[in-house]
Amino acid sequence: MKIFIDTADIKEIKEALSMGVLDGVTTNPSLVSKTGKTFEACVKEILEVVSGPVSVEVVATDHDGMVAEARSFAAWADNVVVKVPIIREGLKAIKTLSSEGIRVNVTLCFSPLQALLAAKAGASYISPFVGRLDDVSHDGMELVQQIIDIYGNYAFDTEVLVASVRHPLHVVTAALMGADVCTVPFKVIDQLLKHPLTDNGLKAFLADWEKVKKG
Ligand code: E4P
Repeated sequence: MKIFIDTADIKEIKEALSMGVLDGVTTNPSLVSKTGKTFEACVKEILEVVSGPVSVEVVATDHDGMVAEARSFAAWADNVVVKVPIIREGLKAIKTLSSEGIRVNVTLCFSPLQALLAAKAGASYISPFVGRLDDVSHDGMELVQQIIDIYGNYAFDTEVLVASVRHPLHVVTAALMGADVCTVPFKVIDQLLKHPLTDNGLKAFLADWEKVKKG
């Protein structure tokens, strides 16, 4: 399973890259707004250090506007993936952009039927928002399984990108289900590593080392 980081914070991105586990980045306007930078400056800074897919979200809500924004983002770097919301105009934009070879990550997916339509229109990625579904008492990971089953039934190439991840259990469940990608906030990437038995074991080894070292 590929791991993307869900942030626009360049320090977090660089730290995750240095850990050797990062395959790509997802951003959205809310994440960029937290950096205090302008949208273009923020995204271009990310593109300078990341060679894997970087998702950049359009804000237009009509076909022509989305396509114009997407074409301009795609000109910034070859690894730009344009994020488009799953609305009717978005579907039209996915079709246009995929026919031009511009990869699209379809965002704000909350149902298996939205995912089916996105794949039919030519999406490269579908992003089910699992945490936001959990927030309204709907099992987000159940949606992921439904999408994996539907895409498997028809051999769609669209990759299932688990988004709105809130904790390590989302990540392990995604991996067990065979999701293609999980996009994870930095805090959760760090949590994936943590185990008290690792910390306790290391502490004991280092304490015993002190007893046997020379001098
Ligand atoms: C990623 O592509 C999404 O924009 C992001 O995962 C949304 O996460 P949130 O529900 O924590 O805002």
